[in-house]
Amino acid sequence: MNIRIADLFCGIGGIAEASHRVSEAGHKSATSRAGEISTSHPKVVTAIDIDQSAASLYRHHHGIVPRCSTIESLQRIAERPNQKLDMWWLSPPCQPYTTRGSQRGSLDARSQALRRLIQLIPREIPRLIGLENVPAFEGSQHHQALKQTLTEAGYQYKEYNLCPTELGIPMRRRRFYLLAKQGGETFPTISTNKQQRPLTEFIDDANWQDNSLQVPHDTVRRYESAMNIIEVDNRDAITACFTSAYGKSPIRSGSYLYCSTHNAVRRFSPNEIAKLMGFRDGFFSTNQLSQRVQYRLIGNSLAVPVVHELLSALLAK
Ligand SMILES: C[S@@+](CC[C@H](N)C(=O)[O-])C[C@H]1O[C@@H](n2cnc3c(N)ncnc32)[C@H](O)[C@@H]1O
Repeated sequence: MNIRIADLFCGIGGIAEASHRVSEAGHKSATSRAGEISTSHPKVVTAIDIDQSAASLYRHHHGIVPRCSTIESLQRIAERPNQKLDMWWLSPPCQPYTTRGSQRGSLDARSQALRRLIQLIPREIPRLIGLENVPAFEGSQHHQALKQTLTEAGYQYKEYNLCPTELGIPMRRRRFYLLAKQGGETFPTISTNKQQRPLTEFIDDANWQDNSLQVPHDTVRRYESAMNIIEVDNRDAITACFTSAYGKSPIRSGSYLYCSTHNAVRRFSPNEIAKLMGFRDGFFSTNQLSQRVQYRLIGNSLAVPVVHELLSALLAK
């Protein structure tokens, strides 16, 4: 059965990337109940975001042109009155809730789009809903309002707090997730004891020749104690969470690599971060976006392996 997804706050399409994977993997997931194979074909059919740079990349990789409008201005989510949507995936901006953001929650203008979606849920009743945000979203006013709306509209829901490290990915990015559905069985648990993959799998040695990734010696000297610098051949290393400020702010925005052979410290490339986030190889190689924009887009995106597991859990009977 085709599952038609609305990718709301679509960015570069973490859920679209995960949907390709679910389809490719023959719809079998570690979270499916014993022997059960989901026959669902998840596919994004409409996507919305205000970011034009993200839209160009989205179109290239996922074959859909996102609508560039603010979500709070929408009267309905479907593009046409007869367009049927089975699922909404929501990744609203996290700044209203992050400790480094405003923490003003529902008072922050950037949370108005989520407020609008919460209003639209009882009118449109998408059968399946998924939401991603920072852990600090939990307990916010919008979190409470969402749970109340879901309960009143007859959904069952389950919340998850997951980090890619729990699925064997050597990168920290703990996030809050909520899955909701109309009917069906209770949600399966997600197995989180995968063996860690070595960071070297995600590193491209050719990047030591890329001068645009080098961190100047005086920057390293100045911020060294606060920078998270990883030895390139440390197989057990786990990176910090890469944020949209990576490449702009030298500290608390992600990890760096040190190589004794080159006696140099460099940033991870946008493609290396995209690979850690579970996107296909060379995700950013096909576009003309500046390195700064690429860091912003990947820093805002979703950890695809985690979303893949959640999507499988949502689609299980
Ligand atoms: C956390 S990111 C989502 C990332 C995305 N799911 C991905 O996989 O790349 C939030 C996105 O919401 C978009 N956005 C912010 N405010 C918006 C609004 N009012 N209406 C529509 N999109 C908005 C931003 O441009 C950004 O791409």
